[in-house]
Amino acid sequence: MSRKEKKPTDPGTTGHSWDGIEELNNPLPRWWLWTFYATIIWGIGYTILYPAWPLITGATPGLLGYSSRQEVRAEIADVSAANAAIDARLMATDLAGVAKDPALQRYATAGGGALFKTYCAQCHGSGAAGNVGYPNLLDDDWLWGGTLADINTTIAHGVRWDQDPDTRYSQMPAFGDILTKPEITQVVEYVRALSGQENDAALADKGKVVFGDNCAACHGEKGKGNQSLGAPNLTDPIWLYGGDRKTLTATVEKARYGIMPAWSSRLDPSQIRQLAIYVHQLGGGQ
Ligand code: HEC
Ligand code: HEC
Repeated sequence: MSRKEKKPTDPGTTGHSWDGIEELNNPLPRWWLWTFYATIIWGIGYTILYPAWPLITGATPGLLGYSSRQEVRAEIADVSAANAAIDARLMATDLAGVAKDPALQRYATAGGGALFKTYCAQCHGSGAAGNVGYPNLLDDDWLWGGTLADINTTIAHGVRWDQDPDTRYSQMPAFGDILTKPEITQVVEYVRALSGQENDAALADKGKVVFGDNCAACHGEKGKGNQSLGAPNLTDPIWLYGGDRKTLTATVEKARYGIMPAWSSRLDPSQIRQLAIYVHQLGGGQ
């Protein structure tokens, strides 16, 4: 028995009834239903034409053979093709001559800047100001040389990068096993004197002898450094690791072994040139 009285406008029932509650027959609007069927057909068609269903090692490839990876590859190829002429000009010009061609210089600096943010900023900082152990590339204090050719070589072959036979290489010995504690204290005071920092003059005097015997071969008689060995200048206030007593003692006892990857295996020669030109014009290039 229905509790509600039926009105003439009520739709018919489906004939289902539970505890006297009847199910009314309210069909979906026709336009809605046909749109719904259309989306199903479109969906099936899409999964047949495009990559869709996950399989164990990939997905169904789809009849059209579309791949987003391929699309990116094609876009990159287009950009490379568009740049091919200017890249060829960059490689044909000698490094020093690039600055005389404003269009080429602009292209190299813009390209180098973009590459720097992708490949170099994690270590050297996005503004190239460096960090402890990672040299500042904005100043004119160079470990391995600041000419365009020097910078190009450093970027192409890296520093202490084993996989590259042409990498820049040198190794400061760990003097913790070679010198006595007092000798290390003395030489640290001497390095502080060299760099114009407050120091104990009597100890520094003794340290000068230790320095001449153990350090001058790489850092130079006057501590000015040696770019062919990547030995830093110790007479300026610019430090790769630090000029306070604690850091200097740690550097002398354990030595450092800064590593920079070689990029010639990952970037093409034009990209390396762009980076060298970009780094050179940051302010410290020679
Ligand atoms: C994994 C960290 C790392 C990355 C990435 C890196 N570098 Fe370096 N880079 C170093 C270290 C460490 C040194 C110093 C090595 C040493 O102690 O002599 C260095 C040194 C340099 C030098 C020599 C500086 C001098 O004073 O002579 C240049 C130039 C340079 N990097 C440029 C680049 C460029 C350009 C890139 C990007 C293509 C890059 N680096 C990416 C770690 C890195
Ligand atoms: C075989 C060459 C060699 C000898 C010998 C050597 N050094 Fe070095 N020294 C280097 C190199 C190369 C570096 C850079 C290390 C790096 O980046 O990993 C360095 C770095 C340093 C630094 C770090 C400078 C900074 O900017 O933070 C100090 C300090 C230093 N040496 C002091 C000494 C003292 C003192 C002696 C002697 C007891 C000595 N070195 C002997 C090659 C040498």
